[in-house]
Formats: sequence, C-alpha cells, structure tokens
Amino acid sequence: MQKFDLIIRNGRVSRRAGSTFDSDIACKNGLIFQISPTIDENAVDQIDASGHLVLPGAVDAQVHFRDPGNTHKEDLGSGSRAAVAGGVTSFLEMPNTQPPTIDQKALDRKLAQAARNCVANYGFFIGATPNNLDAINTTTPVCGIKIFMGSSTGDLLVHKHSDLERIFKNGKRLIAVHAEDEARMRERKNLLLGSDADLSDLRIHTRIRDDECALNATRQATKLSQAFDRRLHILHLTSAKEVKFLRQEKTDKITVECTPNHLFLTEEDYQINGSRVQINPPIRSQKDQDALWAGLKDGTIDFIATDHAPHTLEEKSQPYPHSPSGMPGVETSLPLMLTAWKSGRCTLAEVLKWMCWGPVEAYGIMDKGNLSEGCHADLAVVNVDDYRPVRDAEMFTKVRWNPFSGRELTGWPVWTIVNGKIAFADGKIREDVRGEALRFSSE
Ligand code: DOR
Repeated sequence: MQKFDLIIRNGRVSRRAGSTFDSDIACKNGLIFQISPTIDENAVDQIDASGHLVLPGAVDAQVHFRDPGNTHKEDLGSGSRAAVAGGVTSFLEMPNTQPPTIDQKALDRKLAQAARNCVANYGFFIGATPNNLDAINTTTPVCGIKIFMGSSTGDLLVHKHSDLERIFKNGKRLIAVHAEDEARMRERKNLLLGSDADLSDLRIHTRIRDDECALNATRQATKLSQAFDRRLHILHLTSAKEVKFLRQEKTDKITVECTPNHLFLTEEDYQINGSRVQINPPIRSQKDQDALWAGLKDGTIDFIATDHAPHTLEEKSQPYPHSPSGMPGVETSLPLMLTAWKSGRCTLAEVLKWMCWGPVEAYGIMDKGNLSEGCHADLAVVNVDDYRPVRDAEMFTKVRWNPFSGRELTGWPVWTIVNGKIAFADGKIREDVRGEALRFSSE
C-alpha cells in the first residue's frame, strides 16, 4: 500500500511570498499533504522535478471556451486541455456562448459538460441581459455576473444606463464588466467606416474603439459601484486613461485585470499579424502598454487573465470589419509572464500574485492559488532554464494558432497537477484526469 498518491521530488518550490526553497511535495486525496526537504515514503506516482520550479497552478479568470454553440473553435474539453498545457489548473468561463449562459438551465448544461470533459477545474459566469435580473441573482453556482456594456462577440449587451443601474442596485454578487461605451463606438463606426476608409490598416479598429470608449464605460461602472456599494470587477483594462482614473477612484469594492495581449502587443503588431491581433477592447499604443505595467506594479491592476477567445484562422482572414475579434492565449500566459520575470521586468512574487492568488482572492475561489499543506494540489512544474518558441502546431487550442507565435519563451510546464493528479506530462495530456467545479466563498 503506497502512503501517498503523488510525490514531486527535488523541485524548487515557490509560493505566495515568491521566495524559493528546495523541497519534496507529497499529495494525497487531492490535497498537498506534506512539504518537506526529503519525504522518505512511497507514492503511486513520482515526479523528479530536479532543476524545475514548482508553482501553484495558474488561475485564468477570463476564458471563452465556446461550448455550446461554436465548438468548431473550442469546447470545454479542448479549452481545458490547452489550459493545463499552459500550467493553468482552474478557469472561469464567459457566458457569450450560443445559447448564452443567462439562466439556470444553460448553466447546468455547462456544468454537466465540464464534469464530463474538463481536465482543469472550472467555474462559470452568468450573463446579464436587460431582462434577466432574477436569474443573475439566483442562478447558482456562479463566480459572478458578466455585463457586456459594449457589444463584442455574441449578442449579450446591457448598455442603457437605467438597465445598468437596476442591476447594480439589486443584488450582492460580483459584477464583472466589459467596459466599452456602446453609443460612442456606434458613432465612431459610422464616422470612420465610410466608403473611403482604408480597411487594410487594422489601426482603424483601435480608433473606433478608442480609449475614450473604454474610459467612459470604466467611469460609469466605477460610479455605479460607488453609488450602490457594489462589488465590481473591471475586465481587460487597456488604456493609460483608465489606469490614471482608477488610481484615484478605485475603492476596496473594485478589482481590475489586464491581459497578456495588452501587456505584450501594441497596435504596431497589426502590421505583422493583421486581424489575428484584433480584439475588444483593442490593443493600443506603447504608452498605454507602459501604463498597464505601471498599474500592475502599483496595485491599481490586481491580476492578469487571458480573455482566451479563439476564432479559426479562416474566420480571422475575412476582411475587416467582418473579421471577428478575439485571440487564443490560455496556454501561453504563464510562460509569457515567467519570461518577463526572467528578463527582469517583474518579480516571481508578482507573477504568483497576478496569475495565482490575485484572481483567487478577487473571486473568492476556495482552497486554490497557493502552495501549502492542506491546500488543493493544483501545481505547475515549469522549466525556467530552456527557451523555446511558441509554435502554432504545438498549441492544444482547437484553432491551433497563437498571437505570440515565434516568440522565444521560457517557463513552459513539464508537468501540470490538477487536484493531486498528473494532468499534463512531457507534452501530453493524461486523459483520465477530470477537474472539479470551483467553489466560491460568496455562494
Ligand atoms: O475580442 C474579444 N473577443 N473580446 C470579447 O470581449 C469577447 C471575445 C470573444 O468572445 O470572441
């Protein structure tokens, strides 16, 4: 009889504070049972992590896995496989599927599908419409309510002030907003998409959805949160103007995230990647990107989520404005951030805050995001010595491409552990592992 289910031996362990120490880690019944320099016991599975870094698994709090409705782009199974291949052990999935997740029936369907197919742990948002106030407050379990204040992929939209006010005023749950000003976007579309518009230059996308669009909506959501003392999370912040505004106005009821897309791409990248890097809200200038890094550093921005939003290359190759917005990213976020750490751009403690325990604290996800005895055994064992390029063909996302293709990154997972079981090893998914539904302290 083996004492433990899994022992990870000789790893360099890093946890919340970011300091590293050499240790073995023993897992039993899905939990981290013992962390100690030498564990002299047997286990069903053993990993020799010599020379590798052992981190808490990353938590990606914004993904679009397209299931149901657009499973030719992704499904809960393929998206979760891409997640664990990237060291992401838990994800929160968005409601703009078809049908959208706007009631208990749609949520139950997703939960059942996830239980069958997901190799990572999962949680879901409930989507707001102008007419489903009761459902957004009673459907359970959810990590929060998602409001598209400006239109994006799918048809979820709540843009009238009176509708927004009713949602902020009634209920207690966290509200996560896609903050873009719908009226201004419509105006600018009419203005800029005239017959003489140069649609081959994708910077037009950034001009239509400009930083004032983002700022207006971020300001509106912030004021509503302040007026009704409502928990607010601002998704994918993109502009220097918003960082400046939130540095002044953010309260303890407000958290903010940004994406690797906006931290590592600017509108210069349209020239090389065209509509592959078209997203909402859009990539912007170097000045905006620098402001996001500064916002992360000073705590104005709390954490990083990918907004993994796959579309096929065929769909993407349609001429603007028919090319859909969004790009995949769940499997490259941790390597991108660990590469940034290795190049001196941030500390390891910051990477752990932004990728692991920051999203866990913001959403009140129970027992995740840290590496200590008694915690759930969700771990990423990563190689931070070798560099290898992102290659489209090696991606696990169904759409098989990545906006950072060609970039040399380090920090690629060698093993990913989900609830004490090896879910990813040496480039392959272990198909017998299943994730679990996340639990939220507010539910
Ligand atoms: O670019 C985007 N694509 N932004 C979103 O908010 C939605 C996403 C999608 O689902 O394609």
